[in-house]
Amino acid sequence: MITDKIKIDAFNPDQKIISRAADLIKDGELVAFPTETVYGLGADALNAEAVKKIFIAKGRPQDNPLILHVSDIEQVNDLVYTNDIARSLMLNFWPGALTLVMNAKKIIPLQTRGGLNTAAVRMPDNPIALALISRAGIPIAAPSANLSGRPSPTDAESVYNDMAGKINLILDGGSTNYGIESTVIDISDPENIFLLRAGSTGIEELEKFLNVKLKIPGANNLKRSPGTRYRHYAPNIPVYIFDNDSEKIERDYKNAGYLGLNEPDENFKEQIIFNDVQNYAHGLFSAFRKLESDGVKFISIELPPLSGIGLGLTDRIKRAANIS
Ligand code: TXA
Ligand code: MG
Repeated sequence: MITDKIKIDAFNPDQKIISRAADLIKDGELVAFPTETVYGLGADALNAEAVKKIFIAKGRPQDNPLILHVSDIEQVNDLVYTNDIARSLMLNFWPGALTLVMNAKKIIPLQTRGGLNTAAVRMPDNPIALALISRAGIPIAAPSANLSGRPSPTDAESVYNDMAGKINLILDGGSTNYGIESTVIDISDPENIFLLRAGSTGIEELEKFLNVKLKIPGANNLKRSPGTRYRHYAPNIPVYIFDNDSEKIERDYKNAGYLGLNEPDENFKEQIIFNDVQNYAHGLFSAFRKLESDGVKFISIELPPLSGIGLGLTDRIKRAANIS
């Protein structure tokens, strides 16, 4: 299969390109597209055969459910059982980087929701994504458009590197705004709201809006997001947490890459210093991909503060380092 990568203006998407992409989705094919968080690998969420292609292209475990992307709040009622909290969250945070897990209606194939009774829904804040979903007229199931386990793609080139030959079309809308994925919360029981994945929407903002503390599912809790069971976001070289501390483990830093907010007290082959946490989140996954292709032996990485997007960023870094 030849994979087309087409540039498309994020502010004023070309309707011819959108309709070509929407036709592919309606025909049960895969299209990668930008969202405000990371690139998604989209298929018709209500077509089990189409959704199956996503799992095959990514090499993703079948029990890891997908997010259904909508272009309109009304669309959600066809898919899941909403409640007052769901409606107020959608009105306040959508379009945006907040994914809501609710009880699924039967119309969503089991393939899409990984066999669960719940399903995850979000409305992305990106004009290309919204135009594509609305033109297709169906919810689009889309995980991040990387091979399973690899860093999520934040630009079309990264999608191409992982997906060339496996999908028909990549819509190249430039680099994504946030750089890490959406925050996922389970609101299927409004009395017990769980944080399933920290992400681009800060939990402080959610807790303030909801006026409750989000619960964190324990290791054996059924509410735990299936996706959190797998190693994730990892480059193909080792990642170690770095701290500027005399007690730290000595490593061969001069052949390594460094990522962080502060200058390290060692000499690295290559270092990327971000000037704030937003830029750090924005650049993390592409920095992983750059350092591995530059041939450094390993990556030393500094943890950011645990507030706002820093919580999700910390989660991604720890998973890449395999210590969560
Ligand atoms: O920002 C994002 O969320 C991106 C863009 C493309 O929208 N998508 C994304 O999808 O990150 P994915 O498949 O890489 O991650 C979806 C996460 C996984 O951890 C999955 O287990 C969880 O959402 N999830 C989906 N449906 C769920 C459900 N019914 N119950 C619990 N967790 C669910
Ligand atoms: Mg992913």
